[in-house]
Amino acid sequence: MIGKICGTGSYIPPKILSNNDLSEMVETNDEWIRERTGVRNRHIAEHETASFMAAEAAKRALENAGVSPEEIDLILVASSSPDVIFPSVACEVQKEIRAVNAAGYDMQAACTGFVFAYQSAQAYIAAGFYKTILAIGTETLSSMVDWTDRGTCILFGDGAGAAVIRAAEGTAYLPAAHSDGCRGDALVCRSRFSSEFVEAFKKTGETPKDTYISMDGRGVFQFAVKSVPQIVTEVLDKAGLGTEDIDWFILHQANKRIVESVAKRLKTDIGKFPMNLQEYGNTSSASIPILLDEMNRDGRLEKGQKIVIAGFGAGLSWGASILEW
Ligand code: UT7
Repeated sequence: MIGKICGTGSYIPPKILSNNDLSEMVETNDEWIRERTGVRNRHIAEHETASFMAAEAAKRALENAGVSPEEIDLILVASSSPDVIFPSVACEVQKEIRAVNAAGYDMQAACTGFVFAYQSAQAYIAAGFYKTILAIGTETLSSMVDWTDRGTCILFGDGAGAAVIRAAEGTAYLPAAHSDGCRGDALVCRSRFSSEFVEAFKKTGETPKDTYISMDGRGVFQFAVKSVPQIVTEVLDKAGLGTEDIDWFILHQANKRIVESVAKRLKTDIGKFPMNLQEYGNTSSASIPILLDEMNRDGRLEKGQKIVIAGFGAGLSWGASILEW
């Protein structure tokens, strides 16, 4: 048995922050942001929490799949920005959608989170542990962004995406997954629950800078354009497939130039690399399921198509899987 995605859903907060809005907050401009990243807008959570958005995306995915909440065996949530440490987002979702028969837990692998959740779901289904799994990516990164740092605040946005994965007959494809903690300093956000933070906050009344996202932008860019083509090639080799056999390459939506560079390095038509980062920015673990949902609903995804999903980010971590629609 393999797991097949039988429904998708997403939730995007309505509040939009445009490049022009940002140019009033930091020294930047629409042209620079569009040229260097491809992003025009990002959506920002106001009252919405990571759990709320995850539950909304989950409800839409269940409706799309025609699956009832009682049928869900497991809820896997990838998130780096949960609203509370515990209970987990997965348990909040379980409560909200009344998935009374489901267990659930959260996974933290930053922007690779959804790919790792998808791979875990496949392993559980292949082992016969579970039949129906809800995999979710949800982020409120806006709460972790330093809105005075133009190197990062232009990139990120909030949102959630979900997929219902069900046991079915089909070809099993082996995944590719990697982590390199030695390069972790390239993308860091320190905990606001450490004693150092609490002491610093008591003294100044301000949130210490290092508890916002800090990034070596060029370093992460170089890592992404090198490692993503490698993992895509790795999953294709494991499956005995070539790039020509793949209909869509759905990459984590970090930067238009990263996606273009990956397409070029794989010598593959950029038309097979859909993007929606222009509207949502980088939503970390949510970016792949949000894009999957968009393509599912607008009819771009057709039964039998082969899709590569590939994520990369903090850790450093990166991973890819092949799935058949
Ligand atoms: O999910 C994974 C998370 N992260 C990523 O994927 C990020 C990967 N990295 C990137 O996307 C890019 O490195 C950035 C978009 C963050 C930056 O683009 P870049 O082309 O690498 O710019 P840079 O950092 O090399 O900076 C070039 C110049 C600098 O000015 P000088 O030193 O040449 O005078 C920056 O100070 O652009 C300046 N700059 C800006 N100018 C206007 C940096 N940010 C901005 C800005 N607006 N927002």
